[in-house]
Amino acid sequence: LICFFSIDKAGGGVLSFLCNKILSLPGVVMEKYLINPNQRIATISKDIYGHFSEHLGRCIYDGIFVGKGSKIPNVNGMRTDVVTALKDMGIPVLRWPGGCFADEYHWTDGIGEQKDRKKMINTHWGGVVEDNSFGTHEYFELIRQLGCDAYVNGNVGSGSVREMNEWVEYMTFDGVSPMAALRKKNGADKPWKLRYFGVGNENWGCGGHMNGDYYADEFRRYNTYVRDYNAGEHIYRVACGPNAFDFKWTEQVMRKVPGQADGLSLHYYTVPYNWDHKGSATEFNLKDYDRTVAKAYRMEELVRRHTEIMNALDPQKRVDLIVDEWGTWFDVEPGTNPGFLYQLNTMRDAMVAALTLNIFNKHADRVQMANIAQTVNVLQAVILTEGDKMVLTPTYHVFKMYKDHQQNTLIGSYLTNSNTVECEECSAPQMIESASVDKNGTIYATVTNISATKKAKIKCQIADTKVSTLRAEILTGDMHDKNDFSNPDAVQVRPFDGVRKLSDGFVAELPPCSVVKFVINEK
Ligand code: AHR
Repeated sequence: LICFFSIDKAGGGVLSFLCNKILSLPGVVMEKYLINPNQRIATISKDIYGHFSEHLGRCIYDGIFVGKGSKIPNVNGMRTDVVTALKDMGIPVLRWPGGCFADEYHWTDGIGEQKDRKKMINTHWGGVVEDNSFGTHEYFELIRQLGCDAYVNGNVGSGSVREMNEWVEYMTFDGVSPMAALRKKNGADKPWKLRYFGVGNENWGCGGHMNGDYYADEFRRYNTYVRDYNAGEHIYRVACGPNAFDFKWTEQVMRKVPGQADGLSLHYYTVPYNWDHKGSATEFNLKDYDRTVAKAYRMEELVRRHTEIMNALDPQKRVDLIVDEWGTWFDVEPGTNPGFLYQLNTMRDAMVAALTLNIFNKHADRVQMANIAQTVNVLQAVILTEGDKMVLTPTYHVFKMYKDHQQNTLIGSYLTNSNTVECEECSAPQMIESASVDKNGTIYATVTNISATKKAKIKCQIADTKVSTLRAEILTGDMHDKNDFSNPDAVQVRPFDGVRKLSDGFVAELPPCSVVKFVINEK
């Protein structure tokens, strides 16, 4: 049994790897994991770890914003428990107000005296009353409390160029103008920092049912009036990108937006079956589990294939890929409003989050931002609330584990996989990983074992590195394990002792359904 393994020390990433037919051996194969800190690929944008909060169900109202008069502890209406938890998790950016809601949102409805704000029906999401008590000022107060960047999504579908132009003026202009004066009158003397601005959402669907060519022209028109008011402060503009595998949309839009858009969005949800029968979030068998994680892995193909089109039409890489909606989408919890998209969250969701974030890290040269849907109480939420109670989901713990990758340098890493997780139309490797190095030289490697039944063994070799200290932590459990209000800490990150340090790496055994973070320091 001979295994030959070598690394290109120059950092070119040439991996020569010749292994015997390990596959045929009984027992668990020792997989080879190579980390090459000499191969420095790209900065992992912190915003890959971004979030998305829409006026949908109990995400904003109840989940984040309870109002100043609430008995639930709050600062200026924002739940203290939720804000604290999101900060601890390292939230870097928050997208708002939608989603489909964005293309029906008229920002002037959400400013001024609370008592004067319009009450209306949220036609997209559950037909409930939207009282506009959370508007532009409240959003920027939330951003201030979270200490994260703002990502506001404008209305193309049912709005006007003037409305979008004036919103940007209202939010960002510091000089003499009607909108700056109105903002001051409403209590905000200084403008806010608007890092990202989305010009429409899903304009191929709920944002106007346009075709790509038409939208691209609309984008150019609207975007012309999204002004950079402050010297040295460019508002990063996101054009509406494709729905999952709609490669034609990417091609049509990318023919017209480079030079104007900074990013192109991609939306992909992991739906185990179909939109009429998505599958339960908590009641599932191994086949359902395998389908879910293997379908989530299709994100790799999506990022790669959309990027190929972008590379062909924008070789200078002026436009980034922004995956501003992703995550699991299951049937709603029985007994809840179908328009609220409330679902529970298990270790299966944690595996989807962990593998997807590794995919984004690996594509850090093109993926600038990603926003999981949605922060609290909606879809693959990191937080669930019930009255004054709060639960941190398994997905939350993945984000917190991975926050060390933010702004690190992605480094070369390669892992053999003898096993796959399969469904009829999809296949994923058993393990998905990524590795990065911070400015002090500490290496972080996150490895998922998405198999719910098979453990995995890895032998890691780190090029040109003498390992001095190695620390590891793990999130694992049965695929059904979850945190809920009666047992909020059932799933937790724990120190990992299934690892043995070697002089130039380590050996580890990952249990089924697990994600492990290895933190490595050199002598
Ligand atoms: O996240 C829920 C919805 O999914 C969003 O409003 C929309 O953009 C997408 O279809």
